[in-house]
This record gives sequence, C-alpha cells and structure tokens, in this order.
Amino acid sequence: MQHFAVIQSLCRLGLQRHDPAFRQQVERLRERLEKDGDTKNSDTLARLLKANPDASELVPTKVELSRFQITGEPLTAQIHPPVDRETSQPLCRIVMNPAAQTQRPILAERSAKAIADIVAEWSTFERLQELGVAPGRSCLIFGPPGSGKTLTAFHIAAALGLPVVDARIDGLISSFLGTTARNIANLFSFANRYRCLLLLDEFDAIAKLRDDPQEVGEIKRVVNSLLQSLDARADIGITIAITNHHRLLDTAVWRRFETQIQIALPDAEARTQMLTAFLKPLSANLPLIQLMAYVTEGASGADLRRFANGIKRHIALAGFEPTAPNQFKALCEVLAREPLTRVHPRAVSMIDDIAAFAIDALHDPDFPVKQKPFSSLLSVNQATVSRWLTRAASTTGAAHAQ
Ligand SMILES: Nc1ncnc2c1ncn2[C@@H]1O[C@H](COP(=O)(O)OP(=O)(O)OP(=O)(O)O)[C@@H](O)[C@H]1O
Ligand SMILES: [Mg+2]
Repeated sequence: MQHFAVIQSLCRLGLQRHDPAFRQQVERLRERLEKDGDTKNSDTLARLLKANPDASELVPTKVELSRFQITGEPLTAQIHPPVDRETSQPLCRIVMNPAAQTQRPILAERSAKAIADIVAEWSTFERLQELGVAPGRSCLIFGPPGSGKTLTAFHIAAALGLPVVDARIDGLISSFLGTTARNIANLFSFANRYRCLLLLDEFDAIAKLRDDPQEVGEIKRVVNSLLQSLDARADIGITIAITNHHRLLDTAVWRRFETQIQIALPDAEARTQMLTAFLKPLSANLPLIQLMAYVTEGASGADLRRFANGIKRHIALAGFEPTAPNQFKALCEVLAREPLTRVHPRAVSMIDDIAAFAIDALHDPDFPVKQKPFSSLLSVNQATVSRWLTRAASTTGAAHAQ
C-alpha cells in the first residue's frame, strides 16, 4: 500500500488519544487490509492496536471529576439505599465500581461519538466555563431491547469514575396511595446527597402511568413529582434515563434531558466487531465472523452474545476442536434452536438448504465472503460450490428460455 508509513504514524498518534470512534476506524482499516491479503500492513496495525489498548476497556476512568464539579458526600459500601416504607424493598441498587461490571459498548459511530463527547465535556470543564456553559448533566438513552443501553450508561459512569445509583422506575411505583411520590422524592434526595450518577432505567414506566385511566389525580401527582425532582437535580448531579419506548415519552419529559442518544441495532460492521469480541477466547476467523454477521441481520447485541455463548457451549459439549468449520457447525445448531420469528430468513435458508443459501449469498454484493474461504467453512470443496452455482445458473437460464 502506498504511503503506509504515513498512515501508520497517523494511526499511532490517533490511538494515543483513546477515542473509541478513531480506534474503531483503525480496526476497520486493519480488517480491510487483511481481507485484501496485505498481511504485512494488517499485522503492523494489529501491533499498534495492541500497543495502545483501549483505555475504556482497561482503565475506564478517563476523567477525574473534582469535588467542585460534582458535589456531595462520598458514597461508600456501608451506606444503605433508601427503602419503600410499606414493603422495606430498596428503591435502588448501589454499584460502587461500575468499571468492574462493564465492557466497552460497541456502537455505531454516531452514538459512540455522542458518548465520547459527554465524557469529554467533563474534561474540558474550565474551558466550557470560560464560554459560559457547563457540561451536560442529564442524558436520555433510547433504543430497542438488548442494544446495549444499560451497558452504555455503566460505561459512562465508569469513564467519569462515579458510583451508580441504579433505580428502576417501576420499582418505585407502589400500590399504596401517596407512596410512589414519596419513593421518588426519597430516591432523588438520596442521589442528590451523594456523589454519584443516578440511573433511571426503564424510564417509560412513567409515561405508561400517565395513560392509565384509573387514579388520574394520583398519577398526575406522581409524574409531576418526578419532573420536579428532575428539575431540582438539574444543577446537582449527573442523571441518565433509559427507555425502549421513546415514543411514549412526551415533550415535557424530553425537555428535561440535555442530551438524547439513540442506540440502534448493530449494523454489519458493529455485528462483526461484537462477534469478534463475544467469541473470545475462540480464535477469530474473519470469513466465519462475516458470515455470522450476514445471517444475523436484525439481531441485537444481547442476541449476538447469546449466540456466541451458545457456540462455545456447543463446542465444549460436543468435544469439538474449535476450528472455524466446527464453529460454523455450532452456529447452525444454535440458530436452528431459535424461534423462526427471531432469526433472519438468511439464517433459516442456511440451516434448511446450504446449497440454496450458498447460491443466494455468493450472488449477493453485500455478502463479504469469497467462494474459497466460504467452501472451507462449509467443509466442502470449491468444485462442489462451483457446481451448485453452475446448476443454479443453468436452471435460471432454462427458466428464462421458456
Ligand atoms: N452495543 C453493545 N456492545 C457490546 N455489547 C452489547 C451491546 N449491546 C448488547 N450487548 C451485550 O448484551 C448485553 C445486554 O445489553 P444491555 O443490558 O445493555 O441492553 P439494553 O439495551 O439495556 O437492553 P434492555 O432494553 O433489555 O434493558 C450486554 O451485557 C452485552 O453483553
Ligand atoms: Mg437495559
């Protein structure tokens, strides 16, 4: 590749900044070079990536927040969460070290950038102050189930070095009149007292409450008390709310959040990265991972993790060597057990009729695997795959001739 020495220097400098979006692009370039057979340069990039480990994975705390930026008493493991007075159930879970619970979320570039910006704003606190603005303290994360919303919120907390006060709105809702509003008030006064990130998971529960025709007066009171609590916290701590059903939230709620981040289902690129990460410690085979990414279109990150774990279990139980063709067999077994409504038609075709699948896939410009590595994955020789393709071509030709 021409000018690779310059590209290498650019990558080295960029990687030192620990920007996940930049790292993602270098990983992409490395994969492309590998795919083009440029092993020398792809290995050089692999070495650079290894020498500059992702800071968010290894040392999640990128920003040291001063007491002046986030006020409050330190939250320690000895402090008990507030409880519902009627049931004595805790109103939240306290997670002292979110870094221990989280891996780096793999996100589309846009979302990754929005998240990196939230963290970066706190490291440029003084500069923002000079310009008369403050870092955003409230964020609403929305997206489909299993797309990595909770993971992302914990990742932000880890990057900011803050413990998490993790509350589920439906856990605050009580059947006792007046108790819900009191629970909300108690939760917020607890979160406001300590240095923490307040996480309001399953936030749409309040919106659903609003639509409940029963107890209209009580519900209005609850929603208003939540909105007031959010307003009162606006200048105190950091709050993240999460919802799967953003359409249920009205503008009064949206307005409370300075940043709104959408996390979509992973595209082919993100699925490839996730599967590479989730299949570890199995050795990664790029054609296999690309094939898996191709047949799992529409799957969430949580689905992909489940499939990867299923493959590992299958390999272990069957006593297989974890070769790429065996991982492929395990994939077919795992997908065959999924309900039909939950898998992509490509996966169904791959399981039901591998020749038909091969013909469609090898004619599809979106299918990134070439015929040779594809045949090795299937453990059939290339001549067989060529025969499938020729037979399909002659059948189509005959159909056209009629
Ligand atoms: N974008 C992602 N990057 C990395 N891992 C992911 C991603 N999305 C999902 N996962 C995997 O799936 C698991 C579940 O993700 P998470 O709980 O964050 O999803 P969610 O969007 O909060 O789902 P729900 O809407 O059901 O609460 C994670 O622990 C992780 O293993
Ligand atoms: Mg969640």
